[in-house]
Amino acid sequence: MLTVAVLISGGGSNLRALLEAASDPAYPARVIVVGADREADGLAHAEEFGIPSFVVPWPGADRRDAWGEELNVQLRAWRPDLVVLSGLMRLVPPAVVAEWSPRLINTHPAYLPEFPGAHAVRDALAAGAALTGASVIVVDDGVDSGPILAQERVGILPGDDESRLHERIKPVERRLLIDVVRRIATGELELAAAS
Ligand code: GRF
Repeated sequence: MLTVAVLISGGGSNLRALLEAASDPAYPARVIVVGADREADGLAHAEEFGIPSFVVPWPGADRRDAWGEELNVQLRAWRPDLVVLSGLMRLVPPAVVAEWSPRLINTHPAYLPEFPGAHAVRDALAAGAALTGASVIVVDDGVDSGPILAQERVGILPGDDESRLHERIKPVERRLLIDVVRRIATGELELAAAS
């Protein structure tokens, strides 16, 4: 049984999808802890599913490395097989990447390497792209630059704004994430080989 820690910053709809998938006894992974960089709304999903959670408040960019060390302390206590960033709106510090990658993956609402960074959906719209997508990658020290584990195209429709497009991308992200975690759990997908 693959044990998974999920880190969030926001509403946690992707987290919820993983919690729901993991509720199926046949699913080969379990979320054992949820972490956040603030009192994120998504922590309510952890509570609803009876999953422990922790918060390491973001102290500001000047103390990012200290934040990373505390994040490592919290994660070490749970010894997860895999750490999933799903809506964590922070670049994890090098100490976190060094300790957990390649067992450290991220979901991103674009077809990487297109539109990396924190505003992928807005950037795709601004670029006038006809297609964007969703990706699941291994986290490395770059910005959304790690090995791609899964990705799928999502069309941009006339009249799409950032919110509507993002809400159409998220279900694709969730499906990709649930499948990638399952494939890691079954050994079908070997992370070391991917990185
Ligand atoms: C997701 O699209 C994720 O890829 C991006 O932020 C969104 C988080 O959504 N980093 P939610 O908090 O899971 O609803």
